[in-house]
Amino acid sequence: MSVAIRPARVEDVLDMQEVINRYAAEDRMLERSRDFLLEHLRDFLVAEGPPGGSRAPSTPTFLGCCALAVLTPDLAEVRSLAVRPEASGRGIGRALVHACVAEARRLGVRRVFALTLVPEFFERCGFMLTSLGRLPEKSAAECPICPKRFKCDEHAMLLHLDGTIPLPLAAGEPVGYTRLFLGREPEV
Ligand SMILES: CC(C)(COP(=O)(O)OP(=O)(O)OC[C@H]1O[C@@H](n2cnc3c(N)ncnc32)[C@H](O)[C@@H]1OP(=O)(O)O)[C@@H](O)C(=O)NCCC(=O)NCCS
Repeated sequence: MSVAIRPARVEDVLDMQEVINRYAAEDRMLERSRDFLLEHLRDFLVAEGPPGGSRAPSTPTFLGCCALAVLTPDLAEVRSLAVRPEASGRGIGRALVHACVAEARRLGVRRVFALTLVPEFFERCGFMLTSLGRLPEKSAAECPICPKRFKCDEHAMLLHLDGTIPLPLAAGEPVGYTRLFLGREPEV
């Protein structure tokens, strides 16, 4: 299947919201409002396939989306990655992540990370499991106000763009904001 990755446009917001919030309803990622998606639209990339499906015959098919948020001059986050279930397993998630990494490189950012429940996927994209404790730009600034801070068991995955290797998660070191910073098991 031929897939194109391009910057998101306002007409993508409904599709983006639908796929993200479908997974959010299953507690697999953070919910995003229409206002959030519009405000951060320029962070987002969209994957689209050839026209078809339920839309007008000439409209390309929305397959998924992903955002790159620059947090500091040195660090950017891959977030809101979602591929429609019917399009999964075809390399679209990896193509979206690689496009975000290319954008981070273009911007001159040195490190890219993701917080995720699917660390194996990010390993396949070249990221390494590390400790959220080593990303204070996220764990001290944004995590404490995240709605999921009491039930966070997300893995921190990091990629260095300068060829150096991130420090891996230490043996026995806990995963997730709740265990690491609140010292208890995440709520279910
Ligand atoms: C996770 C997700 C983005 C993967 O997208 P995808 O297009 O199906 O993934 P790809 O086809 O690009 O897979 C790339 C590689 O990762 C592997 N992979 C994909 N999903 C995986 C998973 N859940 N667990 C382990 N490995 C996975 C694939 O087998 C493939 O491996 P390969 O290198 O051997 O070929 C997609 O399933 C999704 O949207 N999930 C729900 C939302 C979510 O969890 N988002 C991540 C939030 S950070």
